[in-house]
Amino acid sequence: MPISVHPSVEELAALLRLPDFSEVYAQADRVRARHKGDVVQIRAILEFSNVCRRACRYCGLNCRNEKIARYRMEPDEMIEVAYAANQAGYRTIVLQSGEDPHYTPEILGEIIRKIKETGMAVTVSCGEMPREDYAYLRRCGADRYLLKHETADEQSYRALHPDGTLKERVECLRHLKALGFETGSGFMIGLPGQTMETIAKDLLLLKEIGCNMAGIGPFIPHPDTPLRDHPSGSTELTKRAVALARILLPKANLPATTSLGVLNNGEKNDVFSCGANVVMRKVTPDRYKQLYEIYPAKLSPTHVKEDRLELEEQIRALGRIPL
Ligand code: 5AD
Repeated sequence: MPISVHPSVEELAALLRLPDFSEVYAQADRVRARHKGDVVQIRAILEFSNVCRRACRYCGLNCRNEKIARYRMEPDEMIEVAYAANQAGYRTIVLQSGEDPHYTPEILGEIIRKIKETGMAVTVSCGEMPREDYAYLRRCGADRYLLKHETADEQSYRALHPDGTLKERVECLRHLKALGFETGSGFMIGLPGQTMETIAKDLLLLKEIGCNMAGIGPFIPHPDTPLRDHPSGSTELTKRAVALARILLPKANLPATTSLGVLNNGEKNDVFSCGANVVMRKVTPDRYKQLYEIYPAKLSPTHVKEDRLELEEQIRALGRIPL
């Protein structure tokens, strides 16, 4: 069943519900091969602050969680890690944090300028900011920005985000696009109240924004959040959403999200055969890494160079080319 270029919510929801999704997976894999080739791009991610002013109900870093120790990395240390990542072969570094007002545009801009001297692409993922701050970071050399819309359902967005609206989030994404950032959004699978129609709307929003990147991952409950008792999102449904994102956005960069934990589960239908072409590896120093707990995960110690080599091997074992 060929998928139309402009599918409706109903059409996408029906696809997500298919008893057998294998044809859609195969189509997504063909689209990926045609538009992105066999390369899997490896990105370094540095989680430089877990301080956050927002109270998102699914996230372990939410400001109401008093159980985690908060940290902030010094700019010099961040730059040092970025240089080590560059030495290890990374061509992109993602600078991610909670929404932490301590890092003013001036501070972030200076860090970006120094990292750009390596020639690496710099992706920023620090939440919502006024347009002029995004513009400033862009002028400092930031190439890309990640800001997931999390859910395209307005009511659900409101319930999950006590201090923001979907409209504001989408507005930020439109600013980023207009400023010339490679712009990434994305959403979670398995949020309370989510239906196939919600996921269909999430996919259509990615397209409407014109996303260059989209991260789609399963929700994982964190014990110190209001959603502690809500079950994890389905990995199968996550892969279906990634496959449809690939078909809708043939040229987009789609990461195998960390929460999907693809490389370890050995499943045949791994996410790299469902349309994904990017993977991120943490380069966050160990003393901070455990504290960046958006959701619970087993983390191994960071060895920037060795971790990258290991990941390259895993990618080659899948018949793909690490870059
Ligand atoms: N489970 C899975 N993903 C989560 N995120 C935040 N909290 C959770 C959770 N409990 C995702 C959001 C955010 C990204 C950094 O992590 O999509 O954009």
